[in-house]
Amino acid sequence: MLSKLVTQKFQELFNEKPLLVRSPGRVNLIGEHTDYNEGFVLPAAIDKAIYFAISPRDDEKCSLFALDMNESFEFAVCSLLFTEKHWPNYLMGVVDQLNKFGHKLKGFNCVFGGDIPIGAGMSSSAAIEAGLAFALNHIFNLGIDKLTLVKLAQKAENEFVGVKCGIMDQYINIFGKYGNVLRIDCRSLEYDYFPFEYKEISIVLFDTGVSHSLASSEYNQRRKECTLGVELIKKDHSHIKSLRDVTLAMLNDYKNKLDSKIFQRCKYVVEENDRMMKACESLNQNDLKSFGELMFKTHEGLRDDYEVSCKELDYLVELTIENPGIYGSRMMGGGFGGCTINLIENNIVEETKEIISKKYKQKFNINLKTYITSISNGTSVFERQ
Ligand code: GLA
Repeated sequence: MLSKLVTQKFQELFNEKPLLVRSPGRVNLIGEHTDYNEGFVLPAAIDKAIYFAISPRDDEKCSLFALDMNESFEFAVCSLLFTEKHWPNYLMGVVDQLNKFGHKLKGFNCVFGGDIPIGAGMSSSAAIEAGLAFALNHIFNLGIDKLTLVKLAQKAENEFVGVKCGIMDQYINIFGKYGNVLRIDCRSLEYDYFPFEYKEISIVLFDTGVSHSLASSEYNQRRKECTLGVELIKKDHSHIKSLRDVTLAMLNDYKNKLDSKIFQRCKYVVEENDRMMKACESLNQNDLKSFGELMFKTHEGLRDDYEVSCKELDYLVELTIENPGIYGSRMMGGGFGGCTINLIENNIVEETKEIISKKYKQKFNINLKTYITSISNGTSVFERQ
């Protein structure tokens, strides 16, 4: 078991009993690229996770060991320098935020590792940030509430790592709940749980195995394009604060005034917010077929209007169309690689995996990885050691 390996390594290195924390990855059912536009998202925490074995020290030293990479790293609480090694930045970013929030931290010993695939769009980075923030809050008794942990973990990524991500990934990591998807209002930061327990359906991820280097620059570019759209519309409608406030009818009035790419980006976001609301209605009515149809529409929007898909993702979605046992399929997360998320009837999961893997291999010469996920709790202390 992963948690055991992490604990064993910790004991071997530090010869003491650690606190063990489990921090999950996530899927997002619908509501993509809406979080930084103050819209809604519908993610869930999953059964893939990173485990932290951690204990406080009396001095300033932070001693890290990344089990999956078999690498160690040390730094002092008040001396945080960005490193080309990359992975320590996600952890130092959290310490940096805690310092900025005025918490007087001591050093700590930490071993971490898990099974969230890196670059597959299941948010291993948020799991590291939010997981460490949670663990430090616990071992140092800092008394930080859950929402502040979320914000702090997001800021760690924005400011120290340098990716201008929205709040979804860190939020679901902390607030995730077994058997439920979470609808987050990314403006008010309020949330509701929706039970997602369909016995006949599996949430299956198909991993393209690619992660195009465009991802973070294009992500920041999309954010900028959305802001530019809002700025223009705001000139005539002063109450508009984000694309959340824009209706399709309003946007259409700007079709000729907005640059065509910016119009397309805004159109996608406005439509996605709308789809998101319809998707929640479908869940309320236990109508997973309609829910799935909306997922296909989301993919079309991300592919044609928002332009964050890629040929590998498009092909995986295309292979699922017109199969009555597959309710919905779409690219998931930031885009330019990673996984598609699919709702598939249990009785055809295996044959679908086989057919799609075969065709994907023929076309791209890549072995398709598939993950059947189940919905788990958010970050918590892990009792079984
Ligand atoms: C990444 C970001 C999230 C969100 C998604 C797209 O996962 O970290 O904040 O913007 O992309 O929905």
